[in-house]
Amino acid sequence: MPTKKVPAAMRERLLRSARKVMKNAYAPFSNFRVGAAILTSKGEVFVGCNVENSSYGMTNCAERTAIFSAIAKAGPGLEIQAVAVVAFGNSDHGVPCSPCGACRQVIYEFGPRAIIFYQGEKGPKQSLITDLLPEGFRLQ
Ligand code: THU
Repeated sequence: MPTKKVPAAMRERLLRSARKVMKNAYAPFSNFRVGAAILTSKGEVFVGCNVENSSYGMTNCAERTAIFSAIAKAGPGLEIQAVAVVAFGNSDHGVPCSPCGACRQVIYEFGPRAIIFYQGEKGPKQSLITDLLPEGFRLQ
């Protein structure tokens, strides 16, 4: 099945939602706030922010927070069509931030054809999850 096109208005809505939820991030250790919004195949939008921990490795990224909240709210039949990620560093807005490796694998589980909107080094970018994560792992 080909990737479904995401209209520009929806892309902007996802980016806006991600920007809004980014303000809720708990990031006292890195001061790097991240917000994510996912669009499901049913047209629903779920959001998440990063939640850090004194035991650094327990940190949950914004993308996984959004995905886990979607499942908690709507159940395990989640199909991700698109993901938007935005970040805010110490010095400026719109800092480059593509999903980390762990989040790519989690996105792939629920959205093997998902499109990802994020900030690249030279501005806004979009990539298929399969380009960000070639040979993603699947058990079934
Ligand atoms: N982080 C995310 O939330 N998403 C990403 O895609 C990259 C990294 C968070 C984790 C941590 O709280 C902070 O950014 C710095 O690594």
